[in-house]
Amino acid sequence: MITPVPAISEKPAMNTVTPIIETDGPLFPATLISPEVIAALPDDYTIRPLRRSDYSRGYLDVLRVLTTVGEISEEMWNKRYEWITSRNDEYYMLVVCDGEDRIVGTGSLIVERKFIHSLGMVGHIEDIAVEKNQQGKKLGLRIIQALDHVAAQVGCYKSILDCSEVNEGFYVKCGFKRAGLEMAHYY
Ligand code: ACO
Repeated sequence: MITPVPAISEKPAMNTVTPIIETDGPLFPATLISPEVIAALPDDYTIRPLRRSDYSRGYLDVLRVLTTVGEISEEMWNKRYEWITSRNDEYYMLVVCDGEDRIVGTGSLIVERKFIHSLGMVGHIEDIAVEKNQQGKKLGLRIIQALDHVAAQVGCYKSILDCSEVNEGFYVKCGFKRAGLEMAHYY
């Protein structure tokens, strides 16, 4: 038997409370950010999950130290952010902000779910960038430590990344070691 669907009144009752839709919450639970990493940041700096409103805090400008970003309108950003939000058990993107709430660094962890290794999960570390005039303050190191912590917390058995030779020393300092060979096929 089909359960009848209750009729919905077209006119809202006088005392109807409009639901507040959370549009600027953290991309993933802030509890996944390592307290040790937070404590080790310079005074007034914070590290936290990405938020939709980070479009206007300079997120894309920080990524420009890494590579070309293109002209991304707020509408384009929102559409992509929405897509990423729907996969927030796979996309862990975080930002470092300075004392003026400006984004000065970022990094992402993408969690791949496998069949091998008993349904193992592998973290892919991507798009690590620290604003030019903020480099050398260990912010890059803190970003990697924070992403490593998220990866371990969500159950990854390892994290991997690709980088250029010039950054090898940085990742070695972050505890990574050279393994294998990167190959690419561009389309
Ligand atoms: N080579 C060797 N050692 C390095 C390098 C390097 N290129 N960069 C930093 N280090 C060392 C530092 O001297 C420091 O060593 P110490 O502990 O002995 O003092 C340690 O690594 C930690 O350095 P941080 O201060 O945390 O590095 P920073 O905040 O400047 O961030 C980063 C490093 C992210 C590479 C930054 O320079 C940057 O944004 N570069 C441009 C973008 C880029 O190339 N990103 C990496 C792309 S690869 C990827 O995304 C997977």
